[in-house]
Parts: sequence; structure tokens; C-alpha cells
Amino acid sequence: MMIVGILGAGQLARMLALAAYPLGIKTRCLSFSDENPAKDVTQVDVCEEHDSEKITAFAKEVDVLTLETENIPLDFAKKIAALKPLYPSVETLAIAQDRLQEKQLFRSFNIQTAEFIAVETLEELTLAVKTLGFPCILKTRFYGYDGKGQVIINCAQDIALAFKQLGGGALILESFVPFEYEVSLIAARNLHGQIAFYPLTRNEHQNGILHISQAPYKHPLQETAQICVATLLAHLNYIGVFTVEFFVHNNTLIANECAPRVHNSGHWTIEGNDTSQFEQHIRAVCNLPLGSTKARGFSFMYNCIGQMPDREKILNIPGAHYHTYNKTPRLGRKVGHVTICGESKTDVLGLAKLINEA
Ligand SMILES: Nc1ncnc2c1ncn2[C@@H]1O[C@H](COP(=O)(O)OP(=O)(O)O)[C@@H](O)[C@H]1O
Ligand SMILES: [Mg+2]
Repeated sequence: MMIVGILGAGQLARMLALAAYPLGIKTRCLSFSDENPAKDVTQVDVCEEHDSEKITAFAKEVDVLTLETENIPLDFAKKIAALKPLYPSVETLAIAQDRLQEKQLFRSFNIQTAEFIAVETLEELTLAVKTLGFPCILKTRFYGYDGKGQVIINCAQDIALAFKQLGGGALILESFVPFEYEVSLIAARNLHGQIAFYPLTRNEHQNGILHISQAPYKHPLQETAQICVATLLAHLNYIGVFTVEFFVHNNTLIANECAPRVHNSGHWTIEGNDTSQFEQHIRAVCNLPLGSTKARGFSFMYNCIGQMPDREKILNIPGAHYHTYNKTPRLGRKVGHVTICGESKTDVLGLAKLINEA
């Protein structure tokens, strides 16, 4: 039986493992952490980051490698990619880890982004703020997620504080985009260069964390988004699921960031689409045909942040699907999600209100 090795054992790995089972594909995770939501459903090898022996043994046991987070040390990625094919490639990872390279890549293909300036010192930051104006956002170039590692700068007094808060180092200053809303496009590409696009998803964030996704977001910008993503996928010779987050402002798409993996804004595809993003990713990295990405009605996905809602109450909502990741509840942490699927947007949004009461 083919075995897909997953770097990381969080909720994304857990849902990848669940999607692989019916295809007759096994998964096995490698984790550097002690909390591993994937361990309920698949084998997880836990080791230290520098334990070359265990890492090599893991790579030997699997047929192909993939990951659930782009935030892994590049040296480690290079070492393991020398042992088994890794999707996404190390080259793609290097770009996706770095907000600066990511934006430079978008710009190189004339994909619009916020204005940005790389900064390292407080002097450089002060100068960059003068150029971009208020408000602007200072972000760490590496290792940011869920709004972590970023601070809004509204006035001159904020500058030194923001710099101190992020601890200096490799930073990027971005102009604040006064967007109307945010969308994401999830796509998958296989070894033959075949691409499948999901319908646009509309996303709402709270404190930098994804809160709600709605799909399909039928929008005239779907095609423009697809052209952007197809260009990036071909350039990267990409294999697997890939996501681009966009701001929509004045009816144009402004690319914010990309993720070389399955994405939180695609969780609705588990029940709301012909092929879930997790199955699609497994198909792509195992060189199987890609599946249909047709939406089934309308879906509303609600992220459970901090703690899970009452299971009975959720299961009493028609069309609601409860997903716990079995994580220890903690403030600001994604511990699960609920998806409501139905035929019409009105029905689904009517029922979605009940989640807040659960
Ligand atoms: N330049 C910007 N202008 C306006 N809002 C932004 C900007 N950058 C980030 N945000 C807001 O913060 C959220 C998280 O930022 P993002 O760059 O996507 O980092 P993360 O890796 O944490 O998801 C975005 O989805 C958006 O709501
Ligand atoms: Mg984001």
C-alpha cells in the first residue's frame, strides 16, 4: 500500500489522513511537537528536529512526502527532500516562508499586492513608514500565522513600539489595504500539469484569525483569480493543493499571501464539494486523476476558536457537520470547525445563526 509521509501532525494532517483512507492510501506523520491531533487517526513519529536518524528512517518508510505547514526549517526540508520526493518543492517552500519573496513573486507576474518595503532596523522602518504612510502593517517576514507576528502602525508613536514588539530582524512593512472583503482561491495541480480550481471562497477574519468562510462565492473575479493562480502554479511546477488569499478592493484582486498546502478556507469542501481539498491533495501527490471541484449547494464554515461548541446542539442543526481536532482548548487557538451545507445561501445563512447559540 502506498504511504504518504506528512511533515506535521496537526489538524490539516489529521484531515489529510482521513481523506487518504478510502483511496487505499496510508499516511504517516513526522512531528517535532508533543501535541499531535493527527495521532487519533494515523501513525505519528515524534522526534527532535536534529534527530537525523529518525528523520531518515521516516523517509525510508514512506513513498512520497508532503506537509501541512510551510513553516518548517529549510535545512530540514532540503535533507528530507533528498531522500523522497517532497511536494511542495524546497524552492516553493523558500518563497512561501518569506512574505517578501512571496510578494516579489506576485509582482513579477503583474499580480497586484499591497505596497511593501523590507526593513531590518528602526531607522529603515521610520523611513519606510514615511514612504507608505499611515495606516500600515509591520509583519515578520518568516513564521507568521493566524495574525501572529504583525502589528498595525497608525501613528508616529506606534513605530518604535511595533518594532520592539516584533523583536526587530527580517521584517516587511505593508501599506494597509482598505479592502471591502477577502477571498481565497484554492487550486490543485498534478504531475501532468492538469489544474483544478475550486470556486472562490469569501473569508472573514477576527483578530487576524479566519473566523468564517462562505462558498461558492460566485463572482466575476473568479476567472481573473484563476489566471493568477495558474501562472504561479506553472512557474513553480507545483504539485498538490495551493491557495492564494486576496483582498478585494474597488473590484480588483490584491494578492495577500499564498499557502503551498491545504487551507483553512477550504474546510467547507469536505462536505460542500464533489472532491474535498484533502482528497484532492492526496490525489495530486500520488499522481492520481484530479477530482471534480463542483460545489454541492452552498456552504458556511465556522472556525471554533478557543473551545468547541456543544456537540448535541450543533448536530441538531440540519445540514451541520461537527469537526473537532481533539486539541487542548486555549484562547485564540483553532480547535475545530463546523460546516453547514444546504441548497440555498438563504437557508444556510439562516441556520448559521444557530451556531453562535451552541
Ligand atoms: N496589508 C494589509 N491590509 C489590510 N489588512 C491586512 C493586511 N495584511 C493583513 N491583513 C489582515 O490580517 C489578516 C492576516 O494577515 P496575513 O497576511 O494573511 O497573515 P497570516 O499568515 O497570519 O494569515 C488578513 O487576512 C487581513 O484580514
Ligand atoms: Mg493569511
